[in-house]
Amino acid sequence: MNCIYIDPPYNTGNEGWVYNDAVNDPRIKKWLGQVVGKEGEDLTRHDKWLCMMYPRLKLLHRLLAKDGVIFISIDDNEAANLRLIMDEIFGATNFVANILWQKKYAVANDHKSIAPMHDHIFVFRKTANWERLLLPRTEDKDRQYRLEDTNGIFRTSDYTCNKSADERPNLYYPIMQPNTGEEIWPKRNAVWRYSQERHAQNIQDNLIYWGKEGIGKTPSFKRYRDSLKNAGGVVPQTWWTHEFCGHTDAAKKEIRAIMAEGNGIDDFVTPKPSTLIERILQIATGKDALVLDSFAGSGTTAHAVLKLNAQDGGNRRFILCEMMDYAETITAERVRRVMAGYGEGNKATAGLGGAFSYYTVGEPLFLPDDNLNEAVGVQVIRDYVAYTENIPQESRTTTDNPVSPYLLGQTPDAAWLFHYEPDRATLLDMDFLGSLQFGGKRPALVVVYADACLLSPEFLQRHGLVFKKIPRDITRL
Ligand SMILES: C[S@@+](CC[C@H](N)C(=O)[O-])C[C@H]1O[C@@H](n2cnc3c(N)ncnc32)[C@H](O)[C@@H]1O
Repeated sequence: MNCIYIDPPYNTGNEGWVYNDAVNDPRIKKWLGQVVGKEGEDLTRHDKWLCMMYPRLKLLHRLLAKDGVIFISIDDNEAANLRLIMDEIFGATNFVANILWQKKYAVANDHKSIAPMHDHIFVFRKTANWERLLLPRTEDKDRQYRLEDTNGIFRTSDYTCNKSADERPNLYYPIMQPNTGEEIWPKRNAVWRYSQERHAQNIQDNLIYWGKEGIGKTPSFKRYRDSLKNAGGVVPQTWWTHEFCGHTDAAKKEIRAIMAEGNGIDDFVTPKPSTLIERILQIATGKDALVLDSFAGSGTTAHAVLKLNAQDGGNRRFILCEMMDYAETITAERVRRVMAGYGEGNKATAGLGGAFSYYTVGEPLFLPDDNLNEAVGVQVIRDYVAYTENIPQESRTTTDNPVSPYLLGQTPDAAWLFHYEPDRATLLDMDFLGSLQFGGKRPALVVVYADACLLSPEFLQRHGLVFKKIPRDITRL
């Protein structure tokens, strides 16, 4: 994963959020499946939120590529706590920024205290390998470049500075207007910006502008667009105004325009405008990035990915996760609509293109005690083991094959066997080896999963055998 953006529940104390981790700790287990947080300032409110976030952040940290970065939206209810666990999990040295996003553009007149106008967006990199990108130049910035000569398009900047002749006597000198021959002095309280030597160089490089007709009395310095540092890209900063990346109201309008009213879209209290996540993507990663949002809500992150791809020809991909039943009707539906286009008449918005697959999570493969959840069925377990063993797709076998019903797959160099029976413990022993029908083409390495092994380590090594124990509670069998 190159970039992760998450917008977890804010723990405001009056909106509940679901504590849904299967944990064995009895102090935490009692919250399982409950909507917690609604009780406001009970003494465990922040503990519960942190217990929900901590394992997720640990996992997200593992999922990030070495040169990846995570952005997390949060308000002041948990900002301080979140910063501490992020420091712990990602390391304080990988803290990049605390961006302040101006989520509101107007103060609520009836606010009883000091009206919060911003959210935090914490940025942590996985390692120092993350490279921050520049924001593209805006048209507004480009509009300043209105003048042109044979060397290119330029804007002008002041030829004087705010120092006085007493402070900088070397910068107080007359310069010659090249077209009128007039001698021009700066003001005594605002001397030239450049030394006499540098001024001579500026003349030689044709960097002085004397007005449209060339006969002005005030020189200016020519700044060419092509010579901008960083190829003209803009260095991102921590203050993100609503003009720069949208606000909550605009986010609500954006979803309403895409989705039909009344299907639960108004339940999103803190949707994010797609422009906000576009800004994040612009500075976070390149055009081939894989972007994850594990608190997907209304699907804004996928919308932003598709929008940016359509704008800059990128090939970014996204993974969204959503636990609520609106994953299909809102999260995925929004993405479908922005891909295909939506709205009618003069409100019609063209489709952004793209595609995605929709999956639902099945039964967990492992139980909280780390044993296999055998209820998922033999085929699912076989597929999982074949996947974890990296058996190439084309080398995988069904149970109906000449070698053994337990064969998972075979290449010229290796074979993998999953000796598993749901209702009895299995063995790697001489009998099992004798049942394998490799027909004289036994690969050098044979990996066997079973409940127990009756062969000695020396025997296994001598015959290129590797035993792997199936993680299940065989005492129950
Ligand atoms: C603040 S919303 C995200 C809004 C999203 N950024 C958008 O623009 O629409 C948080 C999402 O995380 C999901 N979520 C995941 N785990 C959750 C949990 N344990 N408790 C509550 N919500 C959770 C919620 O269902 C909700 O859709």
